[in-house]
Amino acid sequence: MTRLIFLGPPGAGKGTQAKKLADSCAIPHISTGDILRNEVAQGTPLGTKAKSYQERGELVPDSLILDMMRERLNQSDTQDGWILDGFPRNVTQAGFLDELLEQLKQKCDRVVNLEVPDEVLVRRLLGRGRPDDTEEVIRRRLEVYREQTAPLIDYYRDRQQLVSIEGDRTMTEVTTEIKKAIDL
Ligand code: AP5
Repeated sequence: MTRLIFLGPPGAGKGTQAKKLADSCAIPHISTGDILRNEVAQGTPLGTKAKSYQERGELVPDSLILDMMRERLNQSDTQDGWILDGFPRNVTQAGFLDELLEQLKQKCDRVVNLEVPDEVLVRRLLGRGRPDDTEEVIRRRLEVYREQTAPLIDYYRDRQQLVSIEGDRTMTEVTTEIKKAIDL
């Protein structure tokens, strides 16, 4: 049973590493960014509301995210574990997740915090070129990360769930370090 949260700034490699690990453990990789982009692409009511926030690099309002995640974590494929990528993103979302997991009688094993210098993040994201990967939006995403998401590092460190990994090395090296740190 593996239940992990991936934490880190935009471009740190959360999606890359979370997907790899989820595939090797045969558990779902739950990326709030991917779910929202899918909703936007399908033009659903949620996607319509989320679109402008994503385009500006702002967080989508908690009210939308919390309902979405309650529904996702109640699906049957989460029974044997999961990897959360991009959620929680602020202290309100973290508190909500605590309550939800208590209701589901589940516990997060580890929070994997990927650390990468800003200049490397910007270079990686500009090289990838997603619609929200313009220089201006990347800067805003980094600010939002520092203001709202980075406080979760202490939140999970205080609960002794945090493992920090140096993410500025090859993808394979990062995977190896994560596996070592979480004992897989
Ligand atoms: P989201 O999709 O979560 O984006 P993000 O956090 O900005 O993270 P990224 O996906 O850009 O980066 P990543 O760390 O996953 O890195 P990746 O592996 O892709 O969120 C987007 C938006 O959705 C938010 O701005 C917000 O609007 C909304 N949102 C999402 N969740 C929300 C929530 N909970 N609440 C409210 N709003 C929410 O790698 C990046 C690039 O680097 C890739 O090209 C990859 O190939 C490359 N790379 C990865 N690892 C390495 C390596 N070791 N060496 C070299 N290159 C590497």
